[in-house]
Amino acid sequence: MALIRTLFVSFFFLLSSILVVSAQDGDIYIECPFPEGQDVASEEKCAEYPACEWAGDLCHLRANSEAGYHVVGAPVPTPRGYKLNLRKTDPSLTMFGSDIQDLVFEVINHEDYHLQIKIYDANEDRYEVPVPLNLPEEAGTHPQYVVNTTQDGEPFSFSVSRDSSAGEGPLFSLAGALIFEDQFLQFTSSLPTEYLYGLGENTHHVFKHDFGSRETKPLFAKDQPVGDTEVNHYGVHPYYVNVNHETGTVHSVLFFNSNAMEYSTYLLSDGRPALTFRSIGGIIDLHFFLGPSLEEVNIQYSTMVGLPTFPQYWTLGFQLSRYGYTSVEEVREVRERMKAMAIPQDGQTIDIDYMVRFRDFTYNKENWTELPQLAEELHNDNIKLTLIWDPALVIDFENYPPSQRGKDADVFVKWMSEDLVPEDQEPGCESYMIGYVWPDTKTIFPDFFKPETKTWWASELEAFHTEVSYDAVWIDMNEPANFGTNLAHPWNWPPEKPDWSLKCPDNAWDSPPYPTKMVRVGGSESKRISEKTICMSANHTDGNQTYLHYDVHSLYGWSETVATFEGVEALFPGKRPVVLSRSTYPGSGRYATHWLGDNSARWDHLRNSVIGMLEFNLFGVPMVGADVCGFLEDSTMELCARWMQVGAFYPFNRNHNGKGQTPQDPAHWPEVAAISKEVLALRYKYLPYLYTLFHDAHHHGHSVVRPLFSEHLTDTDALVVDDQFMWGTGIMVAPVMEEAVTSRSVYFPAGEWYDLRTGHTVAKGPVTLDLDVPLEVIPVFARGGVIMPCQEPAINTKESRQNPFCLTVALDSNSSASGELFWDDGENVHTTEHEGTFSAEFEYADDKLKMEVFDSTAPVEGLNLETLSFFGVSSDPSGITVNGESLQSSSWKFEESVLTVTLSVPLGQNLEVILSF
Ligand code: GLC
Repeated sequence: MALIRTLFVSFFFLLSSILVVSAQDGDIYIECPFPEGQDVASEEKCAEYPACEWAGDLCHLRANSEAGYHVVGAPVPTPRGYKLNLRKTDPSLTMFGSDIQDLVFEVINHEDYHLQIKIYDANEDRYEVPVPLNLPEEAGTHPQYVVNTTQDGEPFSFSVSRDSSAGEGPLFSLAGALIFEDQFLQFTSSLPTEYLYGLGENTHHVFKHDFGSRETKPLFAKDQPVGDTEVNHYGVHPYYVNVNHETGTVHSVLFFNSNAMEYSTYLLSDGRPALTFRSIGGIIDLHFFLGPSLEEVNIQYSTMVGLPTFPQYWTLGFQLSRYGYTSVEEVREVRERMKAMAIPQDGQTIDIDYMVRFRDFTYNKENWTELPQLAEELHNDNIKLTLIWDPALVIDFENYPPSQRGKDADVFVKWMSEDLVPEDQEPGCESYMIGYVWPDTKTIFPDFFKPETKTWWASELEAFHTEVSYDAVWIDMNEPANFGTNLAHPWNWPPEKPDWSLKCPDNAWDSPPYPTKMVRVGGSESKRISEKTICMSANHTDGNQTYLHYDVHSLYGWSETVATFEGVEALFPGKRPVVLSRSTYPGSGRYATHWLGDNSARWDHLRNSVIGMLEFNLFGVPMVGADVCGFLEDSTMELCARWMQVGAFYPFNRNHNGKGQTPQDPAHWPEVAAISKEVLALRYKYLPYLYTLFHDAHHHGHSVVRPLFSEHLTDTDALVVDDQFMWGTGIMVAPVMEEAVTSRSVYFPAGEWYDLRTGHTVAKGPVTLDLDVPLEVIPVFARGGVIMPCQEPAINTKESRQNPFCLTVALDSNSSASGELFWDDGENVHTTEHEGTFSAEFEYADDKLKMEVFDSTAPVEGLNLETLSFFGVSSDPSGITVNGESLQSSSWKFEESVLTVTLSVPLGQNLEVILSF
């Protein structure tokens, strides 16, 4: 059977390959990139690159028929698709030299909605990303896509289309010449529409990419604060989502490559929107997901890269943090303020301040002697403790056992060859690459790809836990960050010591011919690819294969995340590990929460955080948020109040402040305290809904925070809204992210919309309304058609989880709604989806609310459902029955289309509520 299916699939692809795309040779100006930047472009400069020519005042790639590849022979079937040979048409037409002359173009059919296309060297293995992907054992039998290529002897081109697309052009269509050199890959695709989202980690001022002017953004993991739109930040996600607003369909593409890269969005000279990718290594490896809805794309993508981690319930509560707490006493004072103001809190984070001279796995016995007691005090208040660790460890082997143990286990990153080890290498450091980060002595960096490193790291995490009973781990600086690389000295280098810094060699890896735009942006001082990080000429190994840092640099954070996840898993057996990572790569969401890095207390950074949060939900990392109230610079009362309101709707809700900045914990200003209390009560009330969304993310790959257009793909107004967002399908948030405003316009897509707090009808979309937004108010709406589980809020989730439940039933225009609830102990790993878990489905139609209970009722033992709030009810019911019993009329209240019913039924029991009118 399997054989027949395989043959069928191969045959399908052979057929499809006969469909021919035209060899595009027209006026498609694809700009040639200059290592020095585009400002140097001139006819003379252009002449230095044989693959390029000067025309129309532009240096652009020569036509595909000259600078590209051509097809050699017929497609050769493979078990899952076919291969096609390609040859460089004119070897002399190069950009940076070392063109790969013979390539293979391979089509691999996975699921019906998932296609992989690889282009690689026909003769030699090249680096491929070692991050594991979940690929199906058997291919789908009814692929929804068609791959077209040119034929034998023709300039090579290909396109990917939906097989049934009525009126939809190709989803991906190679435009112009493909360039495939040893250290420079470039390809361009025209896109069906300009509704392009994703690609990161960058600061985007708009969620929908701009095609009006050419924009090029680098991707390469870097310790780079938030702000400038042109810079590369902490993680790398070469993944985009494209919406066709005419057909209401969505597809997405992952460029599975981890070398330094950049992408450009612009319009081709024929007016089509285009996307160019450039990478300086690896292969071209593309995964296409056909959706066709946004949620289907999210599910398909996260299923392949790894379903998101299931957060422990407490992590959905409010968390407080800062860099610069001076002592245990100071943390206690802040805690006291929080208590006095009765502001909910579930987590307290302590930054590097607690360590001895910023050495991991130590705590300072002066101001932090009582750290173990503090952990206990927090636990007594039902607050969990998160501690930070940085990867860079000091080389003081004699006095610092973690490094000595690491050395014994041979875990540190080494120079790729002995001859690169600097002459002034520190004694005892073998061929380790030495840098400098927070500690006051030089550091080395664990190679988290190595199995030995994982074991060593896990045992360090465990040993420290016997000293301080922390609950969660924050891994920072894992791009990896290194200060002052190639400069006279790091910015924080002890002035009394002679100047020193890590200096990288001048070779193919550390001085690549095209280092990407990253070296020219973000205030790069060294103008080198190793800016703020370690040298590319280092080796990593996973025990079987050796990797160049040049290739796996952007996977450093991912590899540390896996090692930390496994370490925390061993430390707390059976519990879901809680790991917060700064650097991420596709697949990181399986293991980690992410925050958007070092932002500033500025209004535009608050605004950008919503876009970043939406993007990480596309990237399969839904547990995300930004530093609430801003990290760098002093926050103000008004900004912090507005940010606490927005933060109340970040999945990861942590107020984190920088060192030296004025305090910004919510209790610091009475106004912010009052506002925080109100908005956190609203968050805590709807945590059962948020938790259920995370269950759907973890088990099925759904996103949690969604753009407004998620359910409205043909609504071109919704497609550009990025200052409003959804929790699932039920809650819409329209935050205020500008200073001194008292009203804002809010877009409501089609459907019924209610004020989430009062239940009053606000709008019947599509419509834009101007709403009053005094400082105390963040507008939050319920969407008609959705039933959301809720619970009486409390000061922390330990307490709120024991409170009575409620349901918010927001009716659509048919007076119906549906929803679900997932519940469990909030911390244990479930070996099967149903073990030890409770779930319920809700349905309201024909004046009848039904709750159907599934799985075990043990997790909801003792919990009652006590309030039902119906939004959008036309009149006061004449009677209500609950499981057949009539309610007394004093048990309900009807006011302005809101019906509130008070009852008391066990949550673990099926329920039928009938309203009579
Ligand atoms: C980095 C982190 C920041 C942290 C600081 C000190 O800048 O991004 O969140 O507070 O290091 O550890």
